[in-house]
Amino acid sequence: MEPTDYYPVPHAVAKHANLDANDYQQLYQYSITHPEQFWEEQAKARLSFSKSWDTVHNSNLSQGKIRWFEGAQLNIAYNCIDRHLKKHADKVAFIFEHNDPTQSYSLTYQQLHEQVCKLANVLKAYGIEKGDRVCIYLPMIAEAAIAMLACARIGAIHSVVFGGFSADALANRIDDCQAKVMITSDGGYRGNKITPVKANVDKALQHTSYIKHVIVIEVTKTPIDWNSERDIWYHHVMEKANNDCPCEPMQAEDPLFILYTSGSTGKPKGVLHTSAGYLLYAATTFDYTFDYHEGDIFWCTADIGWITGHSYCVYGPLANGATSVLFGGTPDYPDYSRFWQVIDKHQVNLFYTAPTAIRSLMRQGNAPLQTTSRQSLRILGSVGEPINPEAWHWYYHHVGQERCRVVDTWWQTETGGHLLTPLPGATPLKPGCATQPFLGIQPAILDTDGNECQGACEGILVIKQDWPGMLRSIWQNHQRFIDTYLAPYKGYYFTGDGAKRDQDGDYWITGRMDDILNVSGHRFSTAEIESTLVKHPAVAEAAIVGYPHDTKGQGIYAYITLMNNTQPSDDLKKQLISYVRQKMGPIYGIDLIQWAPNLPKTRSGKIMRRLLRKIAANKLDNLGDTSTLADSDALNNLIEDRQNIETP
Ligand code: WTA
Repeated sequence: MEPTDYYPVPHAVAKHANLDANDYQQLYQYSITHPEQFWEEQAKARLSFSKSWDTVHNSNLSQGKIRWFEGAQLNIAYNCIDRHLKKHADKVAFIFEHNDPTQSYSLTYQQLHEQVCKLANVLKAYGIEKGDRVCIYLPMIAEAAIAMLACARIGAIHSVVFGGFSADALANRIDDCQAKVMITSDGGYRGNKITPVKANVDKALQHTSYIKHVIVIEVTKTPIDWNSERDIWYHHVMEKANNDCPCEPMQAEDPLFILYTSGSTGKPKGVLHTSAGYLLYAATTFDYTFDYHEGDIFWCTADIGWITGHSYCVYGPLANGATSVLFGGTPDYPDYSRFWQVIDKHQVNLFYTAPTAIRSLMRQGNAPLQTTSRQSLRILGSVGEPINPEAWHWYYHHVGQERCRVVDTWWQTETGGHLLTPLPGATPLKPGCATQPFLGIQPAILDTDGNECQGACEGILVIKQDWPGMLRSIWQNHQRFIDTYLAPYKGYYFTGDGAKRDQDGDYWITGRMDDILNVSGHRFSTAEIESTLVKHPAVAEAAIVGYPHDTKGQGIYAYITLMNNTQPSDDLKKQLISYVRQKMGPIYGIDLIQWAPNLPKTRSGKIMRRLLRKIAANKLDNLGDTSTLADSDALNNLIEDRQNIETP
C-alpha cells in the first residue's frame, strides 16, 4: 500500500487517548470472549439503574429474541440529565446554533432539566401514559431534543419523523405507530427559506385519526391554520406547566423509540429500540469513537430526525454529560464557511458530519476555509455512506490540517451506534476504510452460499452476535424483523451491506446489496419511489436505480414507461419530479428520468435492474450475461437513448 494512504497513530495521540492500540486489542478480545462481563462492567460504569438486572444477556439471535439487562430498571432522561445535576448543573448541555448566526443560545443541564420536566407534565396532562406513542415532526431546534427527553422521562415512546418527509409519509408513520400526540412547529428555517411544517401536519391529519392533540412550537411566526379543538401553543402550556416531574421507572427492555427507515419492499420499517442496551451502546460508542474527554465540545451536524441525531446529538453525548452543538442551519448559509465559522465560534473539538456535506464543501475550494482557524478540532467523524478517498483527503489535510484523526463510522438505524470504526488512539487510518469492529462486535463476511470467508475477501457483511444497541423488533411486525435481518443467514444479523476485508483485517464497505439507495447519506427505497410514481395517471411502470453522483454519492435515476395515450415531454418530466417530491417529501428529488417504452425483463417478468444500473451509470462496455432477457430490443433502445440524457 502507498505510504500516503496509511496514517499510523501518532505517539502523542495514542498517549492521551482513552484507548491506545494495546488497550483496544485487549479490550476487544475480552469483549468478544466475555461479552456478559464486558457489558456488565460498562453498564456499571456508565449508567445509573434504580434496580439491578437478573441477567446481563438473554438472547437467541435466530429466534429473534434479543434481551440485555433483563430485570433492571432505569430511566433514560434521569441518566441523560438528572444524575449530572449534582456536579454539573451549570454545565452547558446544548449550544443551539440558529440558522441565523446572530441568534444562538445555550441550555445548561439545569435548564434542560426544567424544560424537559415541564413538557413531560404537559404530555401527561394531555393523557400520555407510559407506552403511548408521541410523534415529533420538527425542524432542527433544541425543542426536538427536549421533546424526545420528555417522552423518555414519562416512558412514552417517541417516533421522530424527519421534517423533509411529506404529509403522506407522516400520515403513514402516525398510522403505523398510532401516535396520540404530535409535537410540531409553525414552520422551520432552512438557509434563506422558510419551510412549512404545521401545514404538512394539518394535511397529514386529514388522513389519520389517531392524533388527539397537536402541540405547536412557535419558530418562524408564519401564519398557520388553527384547529382550536386540537392545536395547542407550546409556549402557552409550557408557561403554566410545573417543573417538577418524577421519572417513570422503566424496564431495561421497555421501548424507548421507534424510528422509521426505508425497507427494500415498499413500506417503511418502524425500527424499535429499547432502553438500557440502546443508551449503553450510544454512551460507550460516543466515548470511545470520538475519544471524548471532559470539557470537549462535540458537534454532530445530523438532523434529529435520523438515527445519527438520536444517538449522537441527544443520547450519547448527554449520557456522557457532554456539551454539544445543535445546528439549525445549513452548510451554505449565509455562505460556504458556515461550518468552519461555527467550529471557531464554539471552539468545537469533535466534529461529526456526512461525506455528502464534505463533498459539497470541497467543491467550493479552500477559500471558505481560509477565513477560519479550526485550531480547536481534534477529531473529524464521517457517517452515512462510504467516504470516497478524495473527500477523505480534503477532510484530513485541509479541514483538519493533518492534525485530526478521521473516524469513518459505519453503522445503521438498526444498530443503534457505530459497529465498524477506527478509534482515534488505536487504529491506523486508511482513506475510505471503516477499519475495525467496535468493542463487542464480531463482523463476518459470507459468500453467497452463506459460508464464512476467511482472511482477505469480499462478500456479504453480517454480525455474529447481538450487541446491546441492536434493534429489538420492527414495530408491530416481529416477523418482518426476523425475515429481514435474521432469516437470510441463520445465526447472523444481516446488514444488507457488502464489504471487503483486506490483508490487515480492515473492513471496507462496498455498498448496499439490496435495492436501497444511499442519496446524500439518506436511505431511499427504490420500491417506495416506484410505487409512488405508478400512482401518477401518466405512468404505467417505473424502475428506479442509483447512479454515481459527484456530491450526493448516489443520484436517483428513473426509467418510466408511460401510458399508451401519453406523450413524453420535458414538461411531463418536471411534473413527475415534483409529484414525487410532493407525495414523499422534498428530499426525494429524482435527478434523471429516461423514458422507457419497454423495460428489460427476464422471461419470468423480473426487471433486470443490474442492466438498468449499468445504463444509468453509462457503463456500457461490459453488460454481463443478457441471455435471460425476454426481449433484447428493450435493452438496445434504452442504451441508444441514454446518449441523449445529460448527466448533471
Ligand atoms: C450506509 C446511518 C459506508 C450503509 C447511520 C448502511 C455507510 C446505511 C457508512 C445505513 C460508512 C452508513 N461507510 N457506508 N461509514 N455509514 N453507511 O440507517 O449502507 O441511515 O447500511 O444509518 O448507510 O443508513 P442509516
